[in-house]
Amino acid sequence: PQVAVIVVAAGSGSRLGHAEPKAFVSLAGRTLLERALASVFGMRDPVQVIVVAPATHLAHARRVASRAGGAASVDVVAGGATRQESVNRGLAALHPGVRTVLVHDAARALTPAALCDAVVDAVQSTGHGIVPGLAVVDTIKKISAAGEILGTVDRAALSAVQTPQGFPREMLTAAAAAASAGSSLAATDDAGVVAAAGYPVSVIAGDPLAFKITTLWDLGRAEALLGARVP
Ligand code: CTP
Ligand code: MG
Repeated sequence: PQVAVIVVAAGSGSRLGHAEPKAFVSLAGRTLLERALASVFGMRDPVQVIVVAPATHLAHARRVASRAGGAASVDVVAGGATRQESVNRGLAALHPGVRTVLVHDAARALTPAALCDAVVDAVQSTGHGIVPGLAVVDTIKKISAAGEILGTVDRAALSAVQTPQGFPREMLTAAAAAASAGSSLAATDDAGVVAAAGYPVSVIAGDPLAFKITTLWDLGRAEALLGARVP
């Protein structure tokens, strides 16, 4: 395939607070990882799928992947101490023919397959990095360390970004190598790494269903959504 999707699932889920790593927590009878992979396998064209899992859960991840994807080829690799390190481990497993790489959080378990396809299309038509984002609806304040309000940020200039984030392969691998080499500030997403390396990154319309399951409240919201509609 010309497209690869790296699903990062190696985090512990400390804010969720379950004993098992977050990607292996059950959401209405199926793990977050299985649900995230079902969307990836629902994409229009075949893709290389790389799951980055905790070193303790590689066999479990393989079982989940075969349940979600049947015959499709899935590579499972061990993650690192940070999300960025986990992405780097995934990048090392890319097949030679891959031109476009998506990086996706397993924690965004309800992301529609159509959003993944839209990111691929936008990367391929623009040659840019592409991230899905939603308009910010709350009023955002800039504050001091003591909590004093310093001003209001113009929310029309803001986007709350999601995953999957997609990039031309060379852009992402070069940016990741530059970030590993040190200098740049710690980025919290892949778009930050790629933009720090000087490459163009644009936003397309995200999807509310691509929200990240971070806390128990988010898990409850996901359960409620699944109860209200067929996944
Ligand atoms: N992730 C990863 N490797 C890490 C840290 C995070 O692969 N070392 C993945 C998580 O599994 C998740 C995604 O990155 O799918 C987004 O991270 P986040 O929601 O912060 O998950 P956790 O780091 O597991 O949660 P927490 O920060 O609450 O501990
Ligand atoms: Mg985290």
